Amino acid sequence: MSAVPADCESPPLRAGSPEHKRLLAEFFFATHLEYDPQRIDWPRLSDEQLKRLTGLPFWQEAVSTENVTSNTITAAAALEADPQLRRAIALQGLEEQRHARLLAALTAHYRIPIEFPPPYAPRHLEDDFLFAGFGECFDSFFAFGLFALARESGYFPAALVTVFEPVMEEEVRHILFFVNWVKARRMQLAWWKRPAFRARCAWIILKQVASRVKTARSLGGSGAPASGENFTLTAHQDIGAPVTLHGLLAMCLAENDRRMARYDARLLRPKRVPGLARVLLRVVPKSL
Ligand SMILES: [Fe+2]
Ligand SMILES: [Fe+2]
Repeated sequence: MSAVPADCESPPLRAGSPEHKRLLAEFFFATHLEYDPQRIDWPRLSDEQLKRLTGLPFWQEAVSTENVTSNTITAAAALEADPQLRRAIALQGLEEQRHARLLAALTAHYRIPIEFPPPYAPRHLEDDFLFAGFGECFDSFFAFGLFALARESGYFPAALVTVFEPVMEEEVRHILFFVNWVKARRMQLAWWKRPAFRARCAWIILKQVASRVKTARSLGGSGAPASGENFTLTAHQDIGAPVTLHGLLAMCLAENDRRMARYDARLLRPKRVPGLARVLLRVVPKSL
């Protein structure tokens, strides 16, 4: 991957400035990965490994989520007046479509029954884009840790885990792009419009938090893995890695920091979810 090297000495650029917008688009183009889901050489699995893979409860939700995200982000390019940023959002839409194609190829290859929903049509483009982006900030943070657990537990063959490494790296770029775009968007508004934009973002984040609290509660109930939304919160139960909540949070934070460190230090980093995880890490007992 040709990540733009991080310069630890450089402070973040002023969000929304021409230099910031140029860097944001350039980083996104420079770190784009080339791969074709149709050309993946899927590894042969033993009967036991195949049973584990097909038994994971989140395939349908993963396909549905990618459908909503890829269609929303592709359409959201129209929100952006800056031609380079518009191209960057369009490229992100293509990358999300590739995630959907990768999932389609995997489920077809290993014969995992999936229903493919009709393409999602966003209703309120900016709100839908913000909802998808803040959702990715939550899901990617947990996905980074879960992916590391899956890699280290050996529960799935390394060759299969490796297929998904580019997807993880793309999600790092997506949330990095998103948090910078949101701040730039806000700073370009007239000063008196900024509080309303902030409040709208806060409301959307609250909606995302509420749906995750619901999932966390279902975890504390029957102990059965919650299907449906927010599968990254429950997936550690399904990837064969005995891990405490404390251990999972620590892993997510370490992976988040490791992956983010590879990108230009002049870009803003996602702060809310890692910040919340740091607080939780201090209060959650190690045994939990
Ligand atoms: Fe994705
Ligand atoms: Fe993404």
